[in-house]
Amino acid sequence: VIDIRKLYGTTGKFTYDPGFMSTASCNSAITYIDGDKGELLYRGYPIEQLAVHCDFMEVCHLLLNGELPNQKQKTDFVANINRHSLVHEQMQFFYRGFRRDAHPMSVLVGTVGALSSFYHDSLDINDPEHREISARRLIAKMPTLVAMSFKYSIGQPFVYPRNDLSYSANFMRMMFSMPNEEYKINDVLVRALDRILILHADHEQNASTSTVRLAGSSGANPFACIAAGIACLWGPAHGGANEAALTMLKEIGSADKIGEFVKQVKDKNSGVKLMGFGHRVYKNYDPRAKLMRETCHEVLNELGLQNDPLFKLAMELEKVALEDDYFVSRKLYPNVDFYSGIVQSALGIPVSLFTGIFAMARTIGWIAQWNEMISDPEQKIGRPRQLYTGSPVREVKPISKRG
Ligand code: ACO
Repeated sequence: VIDIRKLYGTTGKFTYDPGFMSTASCNSAITYIDGDKGELLYRGYPIEQLAVHCDFMEVCHLLLNGELPNQKQKTDFVANINRHSLVHEQMQFFYRGFRRDAHPMSVLVGTVGALSSFYHDSLDINDPEHREISARRLIAKMPTLVAMSFKYSIGQPFVYPRNDLSYSANFMRMMFSMPNEEYKINDVLVRALDRILILHADHEQNASTSTVRLAGSSGANPFACIAAGIACLWGPAHGGANEAALTMLKEIGSADKIGEFVKQVKDKNSGVKLMGFGHRVYKNYDPRAKLMRETCHEVLNELGLQNDPLFKLAMELEKVALEDDYFVSRKLYPNVDFYSGIVQSALGIPVSLFTGIFAMARTIGWIAQWNEMISDPEQKIGRPRQLYTGSPVREVKPISKRG
């Protein structure tokens, strides 16, 4: 705690807390994490139970409204979301303006931000009905936009959403079929995608969620706020880690190279990290990583890839790390990203789209958090203070007198 009277000759105290290691920025009733126990709850429900008993739409209802839906509520909720899954035809021209090899996250930041230009009739953030319709639009349109960015990048025609399919099945069809083509839905793979979405749906005040809240605290519209969250998620220390974990496994190549790799990680001068390990909050096994490892098994079995060398390598690497004092003493355990890259690859999702899938899932958390913030009577514009380290006051000299 710093006494700012000494610094600025004014009153009051503030904390200097880079990285917000120990500063709560808000009250929230959405997600609870006990990092020491490795516990994650959405609205009080353990993630392990939600992942087994619910689909993504039920979890969306829970995060947004506070309760799991009954059958009628679920049917209504799904119908309300589905009716917004199409994007305006004009959106196609946004895509055409991008290079085909643009990173999907850059396309997503642009196109999600652009949605606000289509819905100015409902951008009054103080009107709960406007907030609700924006939430539905965002949840419904994210899969369409992510799939469009993929189709555009490979030069294939866009596939329109089909509202009779589940959220995840519809997404997979938009990704992997051609217009008017019959698409055979594989329930195991659809369920795996749904689980990825559930596990990534919210994680309290992480960097991208805090970004959404900060942007929203100024009264910015929800499409702009979610675009800001996507930009933040893009960073390799946040949403990009599953891609990095997969690349790392490919670089290690085989189990006999694990020892050499771990040696490199332990050498602080090497700059090498065990990607998919460690977490700012979890100082125990990330519960999502366990579920993701299970899903990995299911998907690889379904596809006849039980002997997938990367999965075997990942499990062996995990075993070695969990027995090594370097990782044990620092409480470094696998996080959700350690296995999610392998699952997504097996589903046919290209590496460059991994973070886009994460954004699709996290949109629900971002919206729930944004909505909670707007509804909070104590809500203020986010305005962190700083510790000024620059020059004391000085006189401006005319340019002819500057040395
Ligand atoms: N590999 C090797 N050493 C590590 C790792 C790692 N993955 N993570 C942390 N450490 C070491 C640090 O070097 C440090 O060692 P020291 O005490 O000798 O200096 C110690 O463990 C503590 O690490 P911090 O960096 O202080 O932990 P922090 O909470 O700041 O970082 C982070 C968390 C960024 C996630 C880090 O563990 C990391 O970079 N992991 C790899 C990237 C990753 O998997 N990110 C995904 C996060 S989950 C998500 O975004 C969905």
